[in-house]
Amino acid sequence: MPSPAIDTRGVSLHFTSGPDSVTALEGVTVLFRHGELVAIMGASGSGKTSLLNVVAGLEAPDEGQVLIGSTDLASLSENARADVRLQEIGLVFQDDNLLPMLTARENVALPLRARGWTSTDAVAEADVWLDRVGLAGMEERRPAEMSGGQRQRVGIARAVAGDRRILLADEPTGALDSATTRDVLALLREMADGGVCVVVVSHDDVVRDYADRVWTMRDGVLTDSTAVRHRTGRHAVQA
Ligand SMILES: Nc1ncnc2c1ncn2[C@@H]1O[C@H](COP(=O)(O)OP(=O)(O)OP(=O)(O)O)[C@@H](O)[C@H]1O
Ligand SMILES: [Mg+2]
Repeated sequence: MPSPAIDTRGVSLHFTSGPDSVTALEGVTVLFRHGELVAIMGASGSGKTSLLNVVAGLEAPDEGQVLIGSTDLASLSENARADVRLQEIGLVFQDDNLLPMLTARENVALPLRARGWTSTDAVAEADVWLDRVGLAGMEERRPAEMSGGQRQRVGIARAVAGDRRILLADEPTGALDSATTRDVLALLREMADGGVCVVVVSHDDVVRDYADRVWTMRDGVLTDSTAVRHRTGRHAVQA
């Protein structure tokens, strides 16, 4: 059984806006493992992004614990939490979030530089990952010179470069057509098969074809874990 990457125990998160209190998460207890692609589905406002934010340490839960490996995020200072994020957790969003002035290579290398890598090492690592996500030869392109799917690939390379073994993706295919969606999901599947813990939030049922487990978020409660993937080894890439 692969090792737990993320372990949440009884996590609740509430927001107050004026007199109202909104429950974003209620008693969420879940384990995400290395080597797994887990999908989180659910209606708009059900708490999916909130869960990713709590796992990434961007939002502190009101109750419960979040462990990254064996580290309890609550035991860390804000700086140390930011460091865990930088070293271990890659984030991918619907909007690729790439810096428009930088090339693909520079976009992937930037967080590595922030982690103290030398420029030479960061560029070499960026090129390895751009190659792995199928973008060899496009290292010098800027985001505006790439397609939406290619930009998401750069985002995925940036998320995992430098041995980050947790990838949290929030609607990573929300802006893509269906063929490109499958393409990006197949790449995320490949990352999981390579040992990364991949958590994908999606509205799109097609994600079921690529996931090991599917959880449903309803009003802040995570329910209905379904194991959907029975195949072993590499997932067949759909035509
Ligand atoms: N900063 C905030 N302040 C107040 N309420 C918030 C805040 N962020 C989220 N919420 C509320 O928390 C609940 C969960 O929001 P969340 O963004 O996690 O939903 P979601 O499942 O990601 O939705 P979507 O599919 O639309 O992205 C919603 O009711 C939302 O209005
Ligand atoms: Mg959301």
